[in-house]
Amino acid sequence: MSIKLGILGGGVMAEAILSRLITANIYATDEILVSDPLAQRRDFLQQKYGIRATFENRSVVASDILLLAIKPQVLDLVIAEMANESLQKPSLVISILAGVPLARLEAAFPQIPVVRAMPNTPATVGAGITAIAPGKKVEASHLNLAKSIFAAVGEVVEVPETLMDAVTGLSGSGPAYVAIAIEALADGGVAAGLSRTVAMQLALATVFGTTKLLQESGLHPAELKDRVSSPGGTTIAGVIELESAGFRSALIEAVLAATRRSRELGKS
Ligand SMILES: NC(=O)c1ccc[n+]([C@@H]2O[C@H](COP(=O)([O-])OP(=O)(O)OC[C@H]3O[C@@H](n4cnc5c(N)ncnc54)[C@H](OP(=O)(O)O)[C@@H]3O)[C@@H](O)[C@H]2O)c1
Repeated sequence: MSIKLGILGGGVMAEAILSRLITANIYATDEILVSDPLAQRRDFLQQKYGIRATFENRSVVASDILLLAIKPQVLDLVIAEMANESLQKPSLVISILAGVPLARLEAAFPQIPVVRAMPNTPATVGAGITAIAPGKKVEASHLNLAKSIFAAVGEVVEVPETLMDAVTGLSGSGPAYVAIAIEALADGGVAAGLSRTVAMQLALATVFGTTKLLQESGLHPAELKDRVSSPGGTTIAGVIELESAGFRSALIEAVLAATRRSRELGKS
């Protein structure tokens, strides 16, 4: 059986993607080959998902679609490892390496279409959002293939590569901002007398439920806020505190700061 999907690096994100591709029947277990230097990790992936695993990166590069899921710091090493090999080339390379530009990937895999993708951590529970940016040689069929892979772990949006730093600043770093907001909401509940367990349950369900409501109703967030803020009521009292603490601008500045940092790291 030929390898349809080769994954370089069998870490957290690789596992999230491959497990859901198998569940969604997008690839059969014997169509996926993963390379990882750690025998224990390879054994785990093989036993849990029934996929094939190897320590040889060259076998993985010979697959039809190559997914790069190593840490960005390892990329040069892996490229150098491949340099003198005469390999059967993949028909598409997809990279999830944060901050690694298409130009560098296209130089490493000349003549091969390359898609750059930026998933986020909720992908590990199938609720991620992945932004994908096509390289110069990418055709519609390649893009559809990349979209179908990331659709297995959540939503997919297409952006030009110039906006990948902004994506990193919003959906890439965003889970940390939301986690802080959830923790703080729970702290507020504890301060108001709730147990930690109940406060956390209320905070998590409120954030999840509000997201679901906004998504399913199509309501603008401001409209929802207006609907729950009755004159002289509790919610508007809380909103006044958020506004005077600069909650809104703090989030805007957080996204901008992370975007700038992503840009800086991409240059180094
Ligand atoms: N996690 C996220 O939320 C997220 C979001 C967006 C983008 N990304 C990107 O996704 C990539 C993977 O992230 P991750 O969180 O999945 O990291 P990770 O869990 O550390 O996965 C990387 C895997 O690559 C393996 N590896 C190291 N050297 C290798 C080599 N020479 N050849 C083959 N495999 C090698 C590592 O093995 P060892 O552990 O033995 O070194 C590890 O299993 C990164 O480039 C990151 O920027 C991640």
